[in-house]
Amino acid sequence: MSTPIKILSVFGTRPEAIKFFPLVHALERDERFDSRVCVSGQHRGMLDQVLEIANIVPDHDLDLMQPDQTLDALTANLLTGIGKVLDKEKPDWVMVQGDTATAMSGALAAYYRKIPVAHVEAGLRSGNIHHPWPEEVNRKIVGSFAALHFAPTETAANALKREAIDPAGIHVTGNTVIDALHWITAQIEQKPELATNLADLETRFSGKRIIGVTSHRRENFGGGMEAIADAIRRIAARDDVAMIFPVHLNPNVRKVMNAELEGLDNVALIEPLDYPHFARLLDICTLMLTDSGGVQEEAPALGKPVLVMRETTERPEGVEAGTAKLVGTDADMIVAECNRLLDDQAAYEAMSQSHNPFGDGQAVGRIVEALAEN
Ligand code: UD1
Ligand code: UDP
Repeated sequence: MSTPIKILSVFGTRPEAIKFFPLVHALERDERFDSRVCVSGQHRGMLDQVLEIANIVPDHDLDLMQPDQTLDALTANLLTGIGKVLDKEKPDWVMVQGDTATAMSGALAAYYRKIPVAHVEAGLRSGNIHHPWPEEVNRKIVGSFAALHFAPTETAANALKREAIDPAGIHVTGNTVIDALHWITAQIEQKPELATNLADLETRFSGKRIIGVTSHRRENFGGGMEAIADAIRRIAARDDVAMIFPVHLNPNVRKVMNAELEGLDNVALIEPLDYPHFARLLDICTLMLTDSGGVQEEAPALGKPVLVMRETTERPEGVEAGTAKLVGTDADMIVAECNRLLDDQAAYEAMSQSHNPFGDGQAVGRIVEALAEN
């Protein structure tokens, strides 16, 4: 048998870990590959929650998260830290996912060593370098020199082609987040005890419709976060709804949300949920109010309408399919759209059709075969 292809997967935040774990599982099982994992530790607690449930033990853990880290210090530490791992491992490929500082720096460190880069979730574009910030530029940097681009949808593949990227390197695979969602759903079916910690809240809010909330985007810090908090307070004044809001560990989010929302009867501000419990929240909610990227992909797969608290989205597929709606960060708009879904059955039903524009749960298999062929 020929020498296995050595792939170093580099990731560091919660969403990257969720979208990477099914791929790492597949590479580990496949004799054609020698799979290594480097986590940057850009996130700590929220990364570890995923590593634990997915049973992934990294070969390298740079553990470099600092409280309230700046983008420049984070990026500098990532670049030098990942570079050292590359010098030691000398992989045939470096694989990164999405658009975080870890993805951009991991790819750049590989490029500096002339190691080819495979980019998972390639080709997402909002067309606005300030929304989402800094992710739009991070993913464009990776896309500009990656050798393999795993685009989740045709829309993403077309965006890459418009940037004159060689079509031979572009593969439409679906998004691995759907593979991850299928895996976690099967795990919960086998072991329901993985996702029972919301039971007390479910009892407390029984008879009310649950709205799941997440928020963390850097471009929303300050005024945007204040407006989101204001909208949540106004929606929670209704006696027929309750909001469950696992608050991101970024201090810029927590400061505002704790100050504005703590102690409200219909709002549960809780710690970040591990992935099985977040899947449970998606299951029990009537709708999601979010500025997250990943949640925009997961909720439509489960037939849950998503109100996206952003000015633009690089995931237009959900909006086009009618399962997601952009509501920006204007409090009046968020409240109005939320009330519309709660009060207008036809509007709700139009958005809650289970639809999955982001993949069929088989993205990992396609990515693995493309890697094997190159
Ligand atoms: C990062 C990514 C963003 C991604 C998001 C997913 C960048 C620039 N940003 O944003 O693209 O959408 O993750 O959640 O790559 N913290 C903890 N514990 C954790 C995680 C974060 O305490 O487990 C706190 C720390 O104080 C840390 C801060 O949050 O300094 C910010 O973390 P960082 O990864 O820099 O930014 P995010 O806003 O999480
Ligand atoms: N998620 C989670 N627990 C939470 C909130 C989110 O496991 O409390 C998961 C969610 O299922 C999705 C991912 O985290 O897969 C989204 O991460 P985040 O919103 O932090 O980042 P983004 O997707 O916006 O980059």
